[in-house]
Amino acid sequence: DFLTFFIILLLSFIWICTLFQTLNSKHRKSGKLPPGPYPIPIIGNILELGQKPHLSLAKLSKTYGPLMYLKIGYLETVVVSSPEIAKDILQKYDHVLSSRSVPSAAMAKEHHKHSMVWLPVENQWRKLRRICREQMFTLQRLDASWGLRREKLQKLFEYVSQCCVNGQAVNIGEAAFITSLNLMSATLFSVEFSEFNSDSSQEFKDVFWGVMKCVGSPNFADYFPLLKYFDPQGLLRQTKFYFGKLFAIFDGIIDQRLKSRGTQMTDDLLEALLDLNKKSDHELSRDDIKHLLLDLFVAGTDTTTGTVEWAMAELLHNPNKLLKARNELKDVVGVNGLIQESDISRLPYLQAVVKETFRLHPAAPFLVPHKSTADIEINGYVVPKNAQILVNVWASGRDSNTWPNPDSFMPERFLDRKTDFRGRDFELIPFGAGRRICPGLPLASRMVHLMLATFICNFEWKLDEGLNQEEIDMSEKFGLTLQKAIPLKAFPIKLNDNNSLVLR
Ligand code: HEM
Repeated sequence: DFLTFFIILLLSFIWICTLFQTLNSKHRKSGKLPPGPYPIPIIGNILELGQKPHLSLAKLSKTYGPLMYLKIGYLETVVVSSPEIAKDILQKYDHVLSSRSVPSAAMAKEHHKHSMVWLPVENQWRKLRRICREQMFTLQRLDASWGLRREKLQKLFEYVSQCCVNGQAVNIGEAAFITSLNLMSATLFSVEFSEFNSDSSQEFKDVFWGVMKCVGSPNFADYFPLLKYFDPQGLLRQTKFYFGKLFAIFDGIIDQRLKSRGTQMTDDLLEALLDLNKKSDHELSRDDIKHLLLDLFVAGTDTTTGTVEWAMAELLHNPNKLLKARNELKDVVGVNGLIQESDISRLPYLQAVVKETFRLHPAAPFLVPHKSTADIEINGYVVPKNAQILVNVWASGRDSNTWPNPDSFMPERFLDRKTDFRGRDFELIPFGAGRRICPGLPLASRMVHLMLATFICNFEWKLDEGLNQEEIDMSEKFGLTLQKAIPLKAFPIKLNDNNSLVLR
């Protein structure tokens, strides 16, 4: 009957998994694995991860050290929690530690065969990275598209001003999400994807949230290879659906552009991509372009949104720091001045606020997991071939050996410290480092500073009646990125003319 059949199926599954694990470990060269908690047969250390794996693994590393070995289901996993070992992984040995374990959901519509995020370090990946570096995110290209972004910041400013008039609270994360989406769509193809308070853009937002949820949810199919064929949580099916919707939107935009090219001058990044097809060694197929756009949107929207929301939560939690940041903006940009991207370099306190936010709330607490392509010895231990590598930047950001008072929000610590987040200083690597470092960093940095400046220089913020700054909920929600568990909502109050800056 069905029950007997089910039990036989389950026992066979357990037997095959055990056999697979044994064979897998026999293939390893002799050498000592890093220390770690004892794994339970089949499920390994899955139960130790809990709801917030970055936090649980940070705690475990206090017992087992900064290079730790676990098994998540069948997946061999090495966790790194110190800047020194992160440097070995991402710089010294990055030639063998820069591949990826592809999650099942990323296989929807064969995304992994085209995607910069999931391709191994081979020719197609190199080509995509070169295009990003030399054609899309160059200083010149980004400066040329600043006008497109300025318009979207003006819309954010107008929306918040309208909320002041209506006495309405602003959901900071949502406003930052719409603005990030629009900053990205403006920079990439001069189109506005989403509007404040509009039902028509709700569907679009739902598609994006859907993709983020499917790709970000823990998927048992990734830990137990046999489950891949059953897609037990339906995540692959849902991801296919959402990818299909996004590709249809991208197809429409590309078709329209191909028609209007030659008659209109546009300086966005789609134009740079289409120009490539005239140069044979850079040529990208239409499919490649669509998968690249998908990567840029998925990798770029949630990360920037989360960073801005965390920065605002910390500033509302610490009103004296908010005042300091606002005063600096007033001094540098001037009353009724025009905020330019080039002003960012003259705003050291704002920059320090952003660094401190990256330290405490890195959008990707484990970066995007790397994978080893060979056994490699680090610190006297073997990192086995095909292991997934989690660099716990959240843990290094809160390590009291590197940071005094690690849990306090103190942007001042960066004023007399040269530490930067561009991949050279391994104690602060929210964008990663080495060959897999985030290619969107130059755009992300501009977006985060400008959105934050727009929120703080023009408005004072009041929390809900009866709530004081001490009571802002700062708990985290683990997903594709590390978000605030409770959305931050606050009432804006327009500053009087002497105090206000207007974006033009
Ligand atoms: C990869 C962080 C914004 C595109 C990554 C990685 C991190 C990261 C940690 C993985 C690095 C590694 O594997 O070692 C962030 C943060 C952002 C941000 C914190 C904003 C605050 C953006 C933006 C874009 C973007 C705006 C595009 C416009 C990508 C892509 C990859 C990536 C395509 C994959 C690169 C590869 O695997 O070769 N990002 N990112 N990111 N990011 Fe970002």
